[in-house]
Parts: sequence; C-alpha cells; structure tokens
Amino acid sequence: MIEAKSISKFFSVINEKGLAEGLTAVLNVSLSIPDGKIVTLLGPSGCGKSTFLEILAGLQAPTDGEVIIDGKRVLEPLPSTRKEMEDYKRRYRFISPLANGVFRDRPKHDIALVFQDYAIFPWMTVLQNINFALTLRSGNGKKKPRRNELNEKARYFLNQVGLGGAEYKYPSQLSGGMRQRLALARALSVEPKIILMDEPFAAVDALTREKLQDDLLRLWEQTRKSSFPVIIVMVTHDVSEAVYLSDEVVVFSPGPGTIRNRIPVDIARPRARTDPGIIDIQDRIFAMFQYDLNQESEYSI
Ligand SMILES: Nc1ncnc2c1ncn2[C@@H]1O[C@H](COP(=O)(O)OP(=O)(O)OP(=O)(O)O)[C@@H](O)[C@H]1O
Ligand SMILES: [Mg+2]
Repeated sequence: MIEAKSISKFFSVINEKGLAEGLTAVLNVSLSIPDGKIVTLLGPSGCGKSTFLEILAGLQAPTDGEVIIDGKRVLEPLPSTRKEMEDYKRRYRFISPLANGVFRDRPKHDIALVFQDYAIFPWMTVLQNINFALTLRSGNGKKKPRRNELNEKARYFLNQVGLGGAEYKYPSQLSGGMRQRLALARALSVEPKIILMDEPFAAVDALTREKLQDDLLRLWEQTRKSSFPVIIVMVTHDVSEAVYLSDEVVVFSPGPGTIRNRIPVDIARPRARTDPGIIDIQDRIFAMFQYDLNQESEYSI
C-alpha cells in the first residue's frame, strides 16, 4: 500500500529578470494505492508527474507531506554522515531504493524503477545487466548466489519479456523496444513490490507499444496470484494506454500540479482495446482536456 499524504514540492528558479522566484511543481497531492493495483498518472507536460513519481520513489524529498509505504515512511534526502545514518536506521526501517545501492548494510528492494532509458549500463551485456541487479539485491548478510543460479534466473526473466537469445548483446545493439524490455526484465527480476514507470514506452512504435503493454499486464497478473501483488504506478501521456492498463487513471491539472480528477476503470481483465466501456472512459478524458483547452483560450482573448 502506497499512501501519499498532502505532497507538495516547491522549487526556486531564476526568472528572465534574473530574480529568484518560487515554482510549485506539485501541490497538495494525496493518493492511496492498494496492493496489486495499476494506477496511471496522466496530464500535460510540466504538470509535475515525474516529480511526484520521484517523490514516491524517495529520489526527491517533498517540500511538504509524506509518503508511507506499507506503514513505513519514505525518507529523503539520504543521511550524509555516519551519525545521521545511525539515527536514520534507528528511527526508520525503510530504506529508499537509492540507499540500496549506496549503503550496503540493509538492502531492501521494495521498489523498482523503469524510466525512459533509465540506467541500463551500456558496457554490460543484456545478461550482465540483469545479473548486476540480482547481485545488488542479494546484498550483504545473505549467501552470495552462484553464477549458475544468477544466470538461470536472469534467463528466466529475459524469456518472460521475449529477450531470450539476446543475452550476449550490448544495449547499443538492441532496438528501442528491446531496451525497454530489458529495463522491464531488470525491474521484474528483483521481484519488487512496487514498480514505478515514467513514460516507459514513449520511444517505441505503436505496435511494439501495444505488445509491451500486454507483456506488462501478463507479468503483473502473475504477481497478483502470488503473495506479493505488485503495485504499478505509471506516468504516461497516452490516454488510451492509461485507460487500457489501469485500475484508476489520475489526471493532473497543469501547474501547479494537483489532482484534477480520479477516474476508476472498473472493467474486468483481460480487456479488449475496443471495449465500449474503455472507449467511453477515453472519450470522457479527451473531453475533459478539450474543456480545459477551451477555458484557456477564453482567458487569453
Ligand atoms: N530540479 C528542478 N528545479 C526547478 N524546477 C524543476 C525541477 N524539476 C522540475 N522542475 C519544474 O517542475 C515542474 C514539473 O516538472 P515535471 O518534470 O515533474 O513535469 P512532468 O509532468 O513530468 O512533465 P513531462 O510530461 O514533460 O515529463 C516543471 O515546471 C519543471 O520545470
Ligand atoms: Mg516527466
């Protein structure tokens, strides 16, 4: 369960006159997401979606509010001294995903991130990329997994996303769609409880995109049957993608980023893209955007 409580984020920026001024990227956003749900964040460019997602991930601190995951607070910025780290550990048991890489003592991999072209290491082969994630996950305290075990697990997840046979290629030898699959395989391989995705399929063609969406749904369905139903939070610009995938579409309004509307999609899976219910919800969202545009043009006259 993710609970974002009254999250706000302010930046100070320098305006064209060279003066500092405040910018509100996210304003008072509260959202709870139960286990095993897919929620998409939709909204115009610059409305604070990525900022909000990074706050959920603990990669940025909110200016105000807090994020609680399974009852534990997500903390950022990370402690920078040993003393702060000791205090931090005493007070909170949850360690943010960034800390997993930085502090070796208690890795916890509750969250996996799939950002556009996010941290796939170009100097490692496909197989090495997954193995690396798996090795980090196994962390201290546990028995180091054997190379064979790692390879077997990595291959399993590569097969799941249709990358079997590409193990020894380097990312630069893959197509955009294949790289996205690799990012997805890597996220899944650490068996996270939460996957946060920022426009993960933006760089691929329409057909590949639909295929990736279906792969994602299939893999997510598998986790729903397990004891760890995965939460997916995805930022997208694509209304049909949002409605097709989600249990709920959260529409942000343009600056300052607030929740404009929350639209539940109560349609049983597997869904058909042409399902009248899906089309109806898409139309409602488009109509909403159209309405906003018209309002804006009235103001500018
Ligand atoms: N580090 C920063 N310093 C100052 N302003 C920032 C910073 N990061 C983001 N912003 C501003 O915050 C606002 C929200 O940015 P954000 O990247 O979250 O938008 P977004 O909804 O993800 O947009 P897009 O759809 O284009 O990716 C923007 O106005 C952006 O310029
Ligand atoms: Mg963004």
